[in-house]
Amino acid sequence: MARPARSSFVCQSCGGVSQRWVGKCPSCGEWNTLVEETDAGPPPGSGLTKASRGRAVTLETLATRGEAPPRIETGLVELDRVTGGGIVPGSALLIGGEPGIGKSTLLLQLCAALAGGGRRTLYFSGEEAAAQVRLRAERLGLSTSPVLLASETNLSNILATLGEDRRADLVVIDSIQTLWADALDAAPGTVSQVRAATGSLIRYAKQSGAALLLVGHVTKDGQIAGPKVIEHMVDTVLSFEGDRGHPFRILRAVKNRFGATDEIGVFEMAQQGLRQVANPSELFLGDRDASAPGAAVFAGMEGTRPLLVEIQALVAPSALGTPRRAVVGWDANRLSMVLAVLDARCGVSLAQHDVYLNVAGGLKISEPAADLAAAAALLSSRSGAALPSDHVYFGEISLSGAVRGASHMTARLKEAHKLGFKRAIVPAAGEIDLDAARIGIERMAHLKDLAEATGPCQ
Ligand code: TYD
Ligand code: MG
Repeated sequence: MARPARSSFVCQSCGGVSQRWVGKCPSCGEWNTLVEETDAGPPPGSGLTKASRGRAVTLETLATRGEAPPRIETGLVELDRVTGGGIVPGSALLIGGEPGIGKSTLLLQLCAALAGGGRRTLYFSGEEAAAQVRLRAERLGLSTSPVLLASETNLSNILATLGEDRRADLVVIDSIQTLWADALDAAPGTVSQVRAATGSLIRYAKQSGAALLLVGHVTKDGQIAGPKVIEHMVDTVLSFEGDRGHPFRILRAVKNRFGATDEIGVFEMAQQGLRQVANPSELFLGDRDASAPGAAVFAGMEGTRPLLVEIQALVAPSALGTPRRAVVGWDANRLSMVLAVLDARCGVSLAQHDVYLNVAGGLKISEPAADLAAAAALLSSRSGAALPSDHVYFGEISLSGAVRGASHMTARLKEAHKLGFKRAIVPAAGEIDLDAARIGIERMAHLKDLAEATGPCQ
């Protein structure tokens, strides 16, 4: 006699399972995240329904095979850079991002680029009707592209279609949260549905050699919705970020089993879809007002690529007992640290001032080497004197006020030279190839030197 399906309560945030409903998830502590889901056992075709005795597998050494995985170059250079040189056949990628950021647009452009090169690409849209996707393709000027399209949310139908069509090179599912397996008695988007759909699709990808691209929704704090287990199941997790008010979009690898995770791809959302940006520094410095006090250009690195951005600061006398500190695009804790070092080590107190710091262009930077540029912007705003417009800054500031070395110093300086900058304020330590950099260099050992050079604070 078949056992009736058991139900359990699954946390929609962490995937933790509880036998009874509770208000607070015992695993992750989130409130109101438990949803009743029926446990229908392992998905059909997984081979786990019958007890199997197992067989011995052949063991290999690490040196057995030295081949690099083959890659499908997509023709979108920025995407290839992030994936580590192209999409690996048989691999699964998950791309997350806020609604309206341009995920569907990017994937449609990707499909068209691959289909144009003779690859067979299938695009399953669960969110839009085929006519809507066609309309978008028309706007993008891709309506004649041989991408195969279907609007479908039923997992079994998708798997059946894929089972018949064994020649696909790339399968796109937009989005994984809209799929539902009829074997499971849970709503689309719940943990068990998302997990079952991802598992079945990944199995198909591994068997057929087709690359799988899944779109994932994100929650309001930027995490990919559903359990972390989805991120563990796929080979690569990409995040598509950007500020709605700005046209720039950044594709970042969060996890990559086939390459590094510190590369970014830069795109610009235009009328005809996403445009690749080959030289992002030019874009981020495009509309700079170099004569205003409080702006410093930071020579940063994103992966192996140098990226110049403007850091803007505004320091104004405060009417509040506790002055305001607001940061956009940088870590608020690092701002507090730089302010404390300026106060304790350089005698520049901003305790009576509101401080605002902004990274221009909607970019988010996480490098500690931005400390010196942020400090320069703060000092310039405090003194009211603009910094020289042809200077760039980088260097990490330690709690003692010493300026520490940064990675890839020569690459940063070469980029600054290319964009017409004449002088760089850099850490005292660290090797620089002066012939390659071709830019004036000022070594700085302590933040105090910068405070003195920027002029007296009124
Ligand atoms: P979309 O790809 O639908 O976002 P997602 O799939 O991440 O939800 O992108 C939608 C936004 O992009 C929409 O607000 C309009 C804008 N857009 C353009 O500016 N130009 C274009 O050519 C296209 C297709 C979209
Ligand atoms: Mg979409």
